[in-house]
Amino acid sequence: VDTLKSVAARKGLRVGCALADTPNSLGNAAYADVVARQCGVVVCENETKWQALQPAPGTFRFGPADAIFGWAGRMGLQRRGHTLVWQPARWLPQWVNGHDFGARPAREAERLLKTHIGTVTRHFGSDVYSWDVVNEAVDPADGALRANVFTRHLGAIEQIDLCFRLAREGAPHAQLVYNDYMRGDAGSAKHRAGVLELLAALRRKGTPVDAVGLQSHIGSWDDVRDGRDPQREWRRFLDAVTGMGYKLLITEFDVNDRALPGDIASRDAGVAALARDYLDLTLSYPQVTDFVMWGMADHVSWLRTWDEAPRKDGLTMRGTPFDDRLAAKPLLHAIRDAFRAM
Ligand code: G3I
Repeated sequence: VDTLKSVAARKGLRVGCALADTPNSLGNAAYADVVARQCGVVVCENETKWQALQPAPGTFRFGPADAIFGWAGRMGLQRRGHTLVWQPARWLPQWVNGHDFGARPAREAERLLKTHIGTVTRHFGSDVYSWDVVNEAVDPADGALRANVFTRHLGAIEQIDLCFRLAREGAPHAQLVYNDYMRGDAGSAKHRAGVLELLAALRRKGTPVDAVGLQSHIGSWDDVRDGRDPQREWRRFLDAVTGMGYKLLITEFDVNDRALPGDIASRDAGVAALARDYLDLTLSYPQVTDFVMWGMADHVSWLRTWDEAPRKDGLTMRGTPFDDRLAAKPLLHAIRDAFRAM
C-alpha cells in the first residue's frame, strides 16, 4: 500500500509530523508506528521551544527533545527544529520576560539570544536539517512587528536579523525558516501584508533566511467572509513570497472543523475537501519542499484542547488524518491524492 511517505518521495517532497514526549504520542507504540510508516521527518511539538530547552537562565534541559530525535534517528527519520525564538511575549519563558537587562540592555539582549541560539543549534548540530528560527513575528491585528523584551532593546527588525545570523553561525548546514500562520482568508489580509513587508525588509538587509514556513492550520472559518476569494488571496501571497526567492514549507498542517456539520461522515468529508483545495493550490508551487502535519491522529491533536474556538455543539475536533483508534480517515486519502496530482 502507498504511504504518504512513498507517494511524496516520488514527487521529491518530504512528509513529516510533530511528535511530543508524552504517553499518548511518542510513548504510544501503535501511534509511533503510524508516524514511522507514513513520515520521513519528525518535529518536536513542544520540546525544542525555548521554555522547554532553557527553563531557567543558563540551565539547559535536552532530555525530552533528545528522546524524540533519538527515536527518529533510530527509525531513519529526518529532524526539523521548532522553534528557536517564538516572538509573542506569552510564549517566551517568564524568566526572559522578567529579566533584568541592566545598564547595557542591548548588549544583554544580544547575549541572551547568543547563548540560547548558539547552545541549542550546537547541541543538535547537523542532526537538524531545518530550523524554524523565528516564529510568529507579525501581529495579525495590524500587520506590525510584535514587541517583546528583545525587540524593545534591539529594535524589531534588528532582533529578527540577529536571530537568523546567530542560527547560521551555530548551524551552518541547516535551512533557516521564518514560520507564521497567515492564511488566505480575508481576516488574514493584514497578517499577510505584514509578513510580506518583513520578508522584503529581511531581503534588503541580507538576512540569511532560506524559506518561509506556512503553518497551515486551515479550516472552515465562518466569521471572515467579506466577498474576497481566499484562494486568490493565497495565490497572491505565495507569488509574492516566491518572487523574493524564498523556498516554502508547510510546517503545521491540520484542519479545524469547528464550522462543519455535526455528523461524522459529513465532517470528515468536509475536512478532506478543505484539505484538497488548499493542497492543490499550495503544492502547485515547486518551491514547496516539505509537508509537515501537526499531529497524525485526533487523540494527540492540539485542536482538541484549544479552548479559544471550540465547536458550538461541544463535539471534539477531527482535524488529522487518523482517528482516535488510528483508523485512516478521508483526510489521509485527500492528502495522498493531492500528492499524486502534483
Ligand atoms: O507540560 C505541561 C504539563 O506539565 C502541565 O500539567 C499542563 C497543564 O496546562 O501543561 C503542559 O504544557 C502544555 C504543553 O502544550 C504540553 O502539553 C502547555 O500548557 C500548552 O500551552 C502547550 O500547548 C502547545 C502550544 O503550542 C503552546 O506551546 C501545543 O501542545 C502545541 O501544539 C502548540 O503548537 C503551536 C506551535 O508551536 C506554533 N504554531 C501554532 C501551534 C498550535 O497552537
